[in-house]
Amino acid sequence: MERDQSKILISQEELTKRVRELGQQITRDYAGKELVLIGVLKGAVMFFSDLAREIKLPIVMDFIAVSSYGDATHSSGVVRILKDLDEIIEGKHVLIVEDIVDTGLTLNYLVDNLKSRKPSSIKICCFLDKPSRRMVDVKVDYKGFDIPDEFVVGYGLDYAEKYRNLPYVSILKPEIYENNR
Ligand code: IMP
Ligand code: MG
Repeated sequence: MERDQSKILISQEELTKRVRELGQQITRDYAGKELVLIGVLKGAVMFFSDLAREIKLPIVMDFIAVSSYGDATHSSGVVRILKDLDEIIEGKHVLIVEDIVDTGLTLNYLVDNLKSRKPSSIKICCFLDKPSRRMVDVKVDYKGFDIPDEFVVGYGLDYAEKYRNLPYVSILKPEIYENNR
C-alpha cells in the first residue's frame, strides 16, 4: 500500500487537530438546536465518526450513499442515490458531512435533493476542498483543508475502494490511476 503513495499531504496529528476545531465551531453554532448529521457514504466515514465525537451536543446520525465516480478519478456528473436516509428531515437542522468537494456536482445534487424535503436549515461540512476543479458553485460552510489538484487517498478517501483505512491523507502516485484519468 505504501509503495503507491508519493507523499503524505495531511498527517494524522494535523487532521485530528483540525477536526477538533471544526467540532468546537459546530458545537458553538448549533448550541440549543437539534442537529441531524448526515454522513455521505463511504468516503466520509472516518471524518464523520471523529467529527461527531467532537460535537458536544445531542445529535441524530444518518447516512446517505451516492455514486458519482465508479472506479475512475473523474466525476461523471451523474449522481445516483444507492442508500437513502432513514430519518425524516423536515423541520430539522441538517449538516451534510462529506469527504471532499471536487467538481461540486455530487454536493450540488445532494443539497437540492435534501432541500426538497424541507429541513429548517441545511449546511455543508467538508473535510477537503479542491477549489481549482469546481464546475458548479457550492457553498461549503465548514471546511477542513484546501488541497491542490492531486488525487488523494486515506482517511476514508479511496481509489477503486482501496486505501480508505490509512489514518492520514496522502497523494496517490499518478501511475496508479493514469490509465483511468
Ligand atoms: P465531485 O462531485 O466532483 O465534487 O466529487 C466528489 C466525490 O468524488 C467525493 O465524494 C469523492 O468520493 C470523489 N473524489 C474527488 N476527488 C477525490 C480524490 O482526490 N480522492 C478520492 N476521491 C475523490
Ligand atoms: Mg469515492
